[in-house]
Parts: sequence; C-alpha cells; structure tokens
Amino acid sequence: MDVPSPMAQADPAFRDDVLAGLAAPIPAIPARWFYDLRGSELFEQITQLPEYYPTRTETALLEAHCRDVAAITGIGDAVIEFGSGSSTKTPILLEAVKPSAYVPIDISGEFLRASAAALQTRFPDLPIHPVEADFMRPIALPEAVRDKSKLGFFPGSTIGNMVPRTAVDLLRAMRDTLGAGAWLLIGMDRIKDPEMLVAAYDDAQGVTAAFNLNLLRRINAELGGDIDLDAWRHMARWNDAKARIEMHLEAARDTSFTVAGHSFSFRAGETIHTENSHKYGERDARLLLLAAGWGVERQWTDTEDCFAILLAKAEAERFAP
Ligand code: AVJ
Repeated sequence: MDVPSPMAQADPAFRDDVLAGLAAPIPAIPARWFYDLRGSELFEQITQLPEYYPTRTETALLEAHCRDVAAITGIGDAVIEFGSGSSTKTPILLEAVKPSAYVPIDISGEFLRASAAALQTRFPDLPIHPVEADFMRPIALPEAVRDKSKLGFFPGSTIGNMVPRTAVDLLRAMRDTLGAGAWLLIGMDRIKDPEMLVAAYDDAQGVTAAFNLNLLRRINAELGGDIDLDAWRHMARWNDAKARIEMHLEAARDTSFTVAGHSFSFRAGETIHTENSHKYGERDARLLLLAAGWGVERQWTDTEDCFAILLAKAEAERFAP
C-alpha cells in the first residue's frame, strides 16, 4: 500500500526556493515562506509583544487619522486593499471612508475568502469583490469598481520586506492597477535607534526566534529535511548602509543535513538570510513613492516618529522638466 509522503503535499515553489536558496553563495530563503499555519500564529503573537511597536503604533495612527484621509480623498470611493484584509486595521479605514465598494487582493484564495466573509459580517451592506491575484503585477479590477475613484490600502509596512528595487516595481504595479488620480494609503516603519529596532526583532520572550526557526521546522516537515534545529540560532541585526533589519539563522556549530535528497553543509557562524525589513525616513519614504509615480500628499507619524502612514496620489504621466 502506498504511504503518502509528506513531500507529496509540498509546494514546488517552496522546494525550489529552499534548494536554490541554500545552495546560493549567500544563502537566503524568501521571507514569504515564514507564513505556514504555525508561522502565521507566531507572527500574530509578535504583533502583541511589548518590543514590537509597529502594529500598535500603526493601528493608533489609523484610528487618529483615517477621518483626515476621508476628508482629503472624498467619501464614496472604492477601497482596494493589497493583501487579504487585516482583521483590525481594515475596519478602521472602512468606517472612516465609508466606501461604496471594497476590493481585497491576495494571492491566497483561502485567506481572501475567509477575511472577506468576516468583513461582510461586520459591514453587511458593503459590496465586497475579492480578487485572487499576485499584486506584484498590474491587475484588471472588477467591472463594478472600474469607474469609481480609488483608494489603495497597503498597511503593515509589508513594503519593508522588499529591497528598494522590488518595492518600486510593486508601487509602480499598484499605480498601474489603480490608475492616474488614485490615492494610496501605505504604512512604513521609520529609521530609529538601532537598539530599539533590534529589540523589536529579537524579543526577550523568544517569539521572533521561534518564528525564524519555524522555517527550518517547516522545511523538515514539508520537504523531507533532517535539519537539526538545535544547531541553529536566531539572529537579528541592523544593516545601517542598507537601512534595514536583517534576520538570519546562524549555525551554532558545523552542521550538515539533507533536504529533498540534496546535501548541505554549514560551518559554525555561517548564516541563512531569512528576512529584510527596510526602514524609511521622511524623505526616503517620499522619494521611494515618487520613484514609482506617487506624490506624497501627507505623512502622519506618532509623537516618537516610530512609524508613519502616508497618503500619496498617482501622478499623471509627465515629461521633464
Ligand atoms: C510583516 C514584514 C511587516 O518586517 O516587521 C516581524 C515581519 N518579522 N518580526 C516586519 C516580522 C519579524 C514584519 N512584516
């Protein structure tokens, strides 16, 4: 009788990213693979940590300023969210803007349907049009919102996961999706004291460490790996030249393992780079958006300037000067 192997369920894209990433000269695995069920639970715990300021700061900023956003953009637009709609942040915006339609875009149909259903309960009269797509590329929006004025929403400083070149590609794709004259409300984390930054990504309770190490557990479970989890430790460091927090998994000793039949060896101190989280000062944020065709109209920050939400407008194509 055939026993289904765990590898039978493995996502081939996960397998390819892990095998190529481990064999690369600078070993690295894309951060999106953190978010299996366990990883999503751990991230949820991270957002509640005393050291992890971004979530609560952004939520407070949205509570304080979504009314200002509505006053600038006007009531009755379609809200287009890039990502499947965070349970706490999206309602704050929807309550303030009172859009005539809501379009969540996400690559995971499962998350998309679950969060759309939850939001529909809370906003029974709001037309919701979920779109299952990769928002890194321009998307044809549903017929129902094509002629409406549009407000894009991209909270969470997810943009920080991307290197600037990719971030600009994404922001440009969003501009193409939404069209000239559209608005974008985006959350970005600020550059600040490195000690505070590192603490946010290396918390005292070890939740972020567990989140990082969960990637190795996932590789073992889904790709038939035999990685010794005790041979690895979590590392978070501030890369000042690139203005980003980096998370790595560092080999605590020389260690060898196999994944999907491929062998790998790491020396003590060598790392696997697992995440970047770029931080942007006021001018940096403005320039990043401008490079993709978005003119920043307002930035709101907390009193400590820890985090910012920015409202930008898709500029009409224009030639120099
Ligand atoms: C979900 C990408 C915004 O970079 O702060 C938190 C992910 N990683 N702690 C971030 C994360 C470790 C988070 N983002």
